[in-house]
Amino acid sequence: MKKVFFVSFVFFVFFVRNLFAYDYTLSSAGMPEDAVITIFGTEYRGVNAQGDVHFEAEKVEKSDVTVTCGGGYGYVVVADNVNRQVNVDFYQLFIPSASIKADTLYQYVMKMPLAYLCKSGNNLSHTTSKAKADKIIFIEDTKNTGLYYIYDLTAQRYIYYSSASVGGNATSQTASNVRMTNLSLSAKSWKILLRDDRETVSIVPGSVKTVNDNSPAWNFTGGIDHGYVLNLYKLSDSNSAWSIIDSSAGELACATSLFSLPGAEYMHRLVACEGQSVVDVDFGEITGLKLFFDRKDCGNRYAYVRGTAPSEEGSYSYTVKLQNSDGSLETARVTLTVSRFLQSPTPMMGWLTWNWFARAISHDKILGIAEGMQRLGLVDAGFNTIVLDDCWARQTSDKSQLTYDSAKFPQGISGFIDACRKVNPSLKVGLYSDAGSMTCENYQPGSYGYETTHISLFDSWGVDMLKYDFCNSQADARSSYQAMGRAVAEVNTLRHQQGGVPFVFNICEWGSNSPWLWASEAGGSSWRATNDARESWIGNTSRPGVLGGVDVVRDLWMYAGVNRFNDLDMMCIGLHGLGGPSNNTADHMSNGGIITGLTPEQARSQMSLWCMLSSPLALTCDLRATPSAEANTSAGKLPSPLITDADIATLTNADIISVNQDSLGQQAEYMAALSTGTKDYATTGYDVYLKDLTRGRKAVAICNRGAAAITSGVTLSLADLYMDAETTYTVKDIWSGEESKIQGSLSTGKLKAYETKVYIFSAAEATGIESATSKLQNAGTYKYFTENKEIMISGTSGITSITGTPGTLRISGLSGKSVKP
Ligand code: GLA
Repeated sequence: MKKVFFVSFVFFVFFVRNLFAYDYTLSSAGMPEDAVITIFGTEYRGVNAQGDVHFEAEKVEKSDVTVTCGGGYGYVVVADNVNRQVNVDFYQLFIPSASIKADTLYQYVMKMPLAYLCKSGNNLSHTTSKAKADKIIFIEDTKNTGLYYIYDLTAQRYIYYSSASVGGNATSQTASNVRMTNLSLSAKSWKILLRDDRETVSIVPGSVKTVNDNSPAWNFTGGIDHGYVLNLYKLSDSNSAWSIIDSSAGELACATSLFSLPGAEYMHRLVACEGQSVVDVDFGEITGLKLFFDRKDCGNRYAYVRGTAPSEEGSYSYTVKLQNSDGSLETARVTLTVSRFLQSPTPMMGWLTWNWFARAISHDKILGIAEGMQRLGLVDAGFNTIVLDDCWARQTSDKSQLTYDSAKFPQGISGFIDACRKVNPSLKVGLYSDAGSMTCENYQPGSYGYETTHISLFDSWGVDMLKYDFCNSQADARSSYQAMGRAVAEVNTLRHQQGGVPFVFNICEWGSNSPWLWASEAGGSSWRATNDARESWIGNTSRPGVLGGVDVVRDLWMYAGVNRFNDLDMMCIGLHGLGGPSNNTADHMSNGGIITGLTPEQARSQMSLWCMLSSPLALTCDLRATPSAEANTSAGKLPSPLITDADIATLTNADIISVNQDSLGQQAEYMAALSTGTKDYATTGYDVYLKDLTRGRKAVAICNRGAAAITSGVTLSLADLYMDAETTYTVKDIWSGEESKIQGSLSTGKLKAYETKVYIFSAAEATGIESATSKLQNAGTYKYFTENKEIMISGTSGITSITGTPGTLRISGLSGKSVKP
């Protein structure tokens, strides 16, 4: 009897436990190879962003997840019990130096919310001038993973705590729990934990075992006006949020390595660091550029450089003079590489295998995609690069054995490229690899340590592009990508000498380590700035939808330019809720893996925003005549045709593509003061974007974030959009195709739910070449603005081209075959 009861009881417990245990997905972006995530006693390593790892649980709290990692990495844990997902994202906060005397010291300045850390005598103090901040290094505590000694190089002292408890508003250093010491034996190590904003850190005494909101953390109690010194205070206090800033980073809060084609129109927006302003630029030997201040008091308030880049190839530089708030001056150097051989002067346009096929790729299927691209007019529209994402290689973990999977690609990668070229000779092929031990699918080896071998192999096959991921990393992001950047540069030196096309290097570390600050210098021409995009309108931090990604990238406009672009990831247009990994959204489980997908307005908004923000345009939808959903087996019967006429019209609209491919290479500015949209994954209000285009033209986009129409429309003053209130502009509404003339202000009329309207503005003057065209019936002098290149003019008597530089054009006669400046 007893036995029966016991067996029933065990069965009951087992049954009840399983009744309430749910399938949880564990995913991670940027998990270093040596990091470990522990949940309910089980250890997980090498977790990727695809949601490949599952476990059973009733409920998961953040405190149930422990993470161990060193190497200067921080992490953020999100336990989402509604969608049954646990996400652990890793971020490189700093690179530790091996010791005080290390050959390579990674030096930082540290900023609390109100000021920078510096010394005063032998005491800790603060300054509002970045130039006066102390240089700090971090040294790993070899006995305790994840703990670091903090050493002030300027003061030559360790920063330590005398007691690991919350202090008060001490007004003297000796009364504070945080002090400096020059004795290494007295030094104590600290926990440096990434805060939920994913940007700042909390610095907690290493001896604190369990960290919570009330734990003591290094804090600037009282702020700068109260005479208090730095002390330990509650971690939850906002004055416990520190920024660790690379001290070698440029002194400008914008791109400092710029590119141009010879003699091209050029623009560089100079955003100064907080507390500084641009006062002048010394252009040295460069004659075609000028500094402008007409945006200092409006919009995003910056000075900018504009004009014509040098016509000779070469490395140029100019020096920006900056003034601190106390009147002192500093300079920042900008490099300008002028070359005909740039990886990607405008954003890459292509198609990636991942979000439709995931692992299930092959020669025949992807050739079918190439044929679809050709048939549907996408190649003619400019989509010319096909990228084989993860799982194209033979399954092995041995880096020395990396080669294609001959079951998937029986003719090899070069055979696949040949086949694509038969479809259209302009097609190029890219491959995927990873700056770690294995790729994100843990399927094929990464390329860390094998950069030259692998890139030479890809080059020998005729591959023209690399997408380089960051799962299972073995070193910090910057040095890992620099190593591949050097290997790509070697290939490009040879290709340049041999008259080949440039090899393109796309960096994919999901924005975790602020690649916009270093990825161009590391040799890349575009870098993913967000986690993997998902097929939803908003999404969340670990799975951004259309707006989730845009809300991150819109603040990075000052880091984009010719040959350096923020990548918003693959577009979901044409997936119709049937894609593979892109389907892994919050509600993906509720309907057998099928989600609704984007509405036609949302799809046009995605195209509009990707183009305005100068993102590479990467498609991933199935373009074959009779598609089948390999990655998404639960999709069942596919609608036919899967790709609608509306999709193709959206993707091939020449005007919106011209906004993306404009050779000035600017990313649209988010015009915060003109927008009412709420960021933070909300669907309220509208957002306004402005993009400078060549020949003085501008593109303006207004995006309705919400599910309700804005019936009264949006009216914007042109003066607020960096335009002249008095000038009459010719305006084209890209999606309706309508043209009109306006002065003073722009009124959008009704904006449908999720609709983005995009307008191209040209001043009558700025389109001078067109007005010259219409007047070509008479000899005379005409004003025109154009780049130094040939422009075809039709419908005139014998005149077929004009060559010139901006200025005044003398047209000598009707019968001439060419017109000279
Ligand atoms: C990462 C990338 C994706 C894709 C997958 C492949 O998640 O961000 O774009 O390449 O890996 O495994």
